[in-house]
Amino acid sequence: MEFVVPTLFGLEALTAKELRFMGYENVTVTDGRVLFSGDASAAARANIRLRTGERVLFKVGSFHAETFDDLFEGTKALPWRDFLPKDAQFPVKGGSVRSKLFSVSDCQAIIKKAIVESMKKEYKIDWFQETGDLYQVQFAIMKDEVTIMLDLSGTGLRKRGYRPASNDAPLRETIAAGLVMLSGWRATEVLADPFCGSGTIPIEAAMWARHIAPGLSRSFAGEHHAYLPKEIWEEEKERAKADIRDVDFVIFASDLDKNCVSLTDKNSTLAGVRENIRITKRDATEFFSKTPGGCLICNPPYGERMGDKKEAEELYRGMGKAFLQLPEWRINVITAHEGFERFFGKKSDKKRKLYNGMLKCYLYQYRT
Ligand SMILES: C[S@@+](CC[C@H](N)C(=O)[O-])C[C@H]1O[C@@H](n2cnc3c(N)ncnc32)[C@H](O)[C@@H]1O
Repeated sequence: MEFVVPTLFGLEALTAKELRFMGYENVTVTDGRVLFSGDASAAARANIRLRTGERVLFKVGSFHAETFDDLFEGTKALPWRDFLPKDAQFPVKGGSVRSKLFSVSDCQAIIKKAIVESMKKEYKIDWFQETGDLYQVQFAIMKDEVTIMLDLSGTGLRKRGYRPASNDAPLRETIAAGLVMLSGWRATEVLADPFCGSGTIPIEAAMWARHIAPGLSRSFAGEHHAYLPKEIWEEEKERAKADIRDVDFVIFASDLDKNCVSLTDKNSTLAGVRENIRITKRDATEFFSKTPGGCLICNPPYGERMGDKKEAEELYRGMGKAFLQLPEWRINVITAHEGFERFFGKKSDKKRKLYNGMLKCYLYQYRT
């Protein structure tokens, strides 16, 4: 079976690495998505274990289409009966980029009609009630190449279940996991997030270090897809549970806002990693450590969504004074403020473009 994993721009290579680590060899990276192949159990394994992917889609087929006729015939020719039961709900959504077929709503309607036509012939009925399980059809048209997929995740994979409540400007869980991987942090080192907000970075780091699969306590749309063996979900969850390690490490999480301190407390408890996180109320500009060789990852206010720009710039000055004193630390700051380095007081050793949802950000990496 072939699968497609959409990712935030900038995280594709990390998702590919995760999939290879899970044992999948045939992994291809394109802009904003990763393709891989595996057996049916891969559907469950990828959904349960992926930290940086946004969702897992099963690829039903692909074909070239320049006209609505091509789109209709190409969709109709796919083996829908193998995947959709008679009572399936099969809404259609998708997008088109740099293609002759650019009207998404027209493409949507044509794909729906083509699936109905194919099912009519196969099931010998004229009307589909769509009262059963959800099989969300997703299409992507890129340079006239159409890919038709079924969504196996349902709710996006970033919803792990530990963050029912968050502060005003939370980081996506998938990008937080990506930051931890990019920082090169190992559980043998000190890790700190002095702008912890709802605790996303410390929680993702702790889950990663303890090999706690992010999808262990949630469900997936694919669990109700009849073409996948039912037992793969339970088997893969059991396998993931057996991988959890008890590792002794501490992550320092702090925030100036006492509500954020209590959010991090609640969310890390829900995530099952509370014991690994020391949470305090503290001003980040007073952060210090005498222990050499630590790692700091943070997402300070940008001056757009929270507070104003001038305030953020003043804060970056204070951060520079405090963080650049740390003895042999690796500092990782993600922000959408493009002038960050100027206020922080030092040009980064490495700068990477990443997207927090639709918001373009940069990850600035320093070694002190
Ligand atoms: C963009 S949010 C961080 C979001 C967090 N990564 C999450 O996923 O929830 C920035 C955080 O910085 C905190 N903050 C603002 N100024 C601060 C300061 N001087 N020291 C510590 N925390 C501060 C805010 O309370 C807010 O929680």
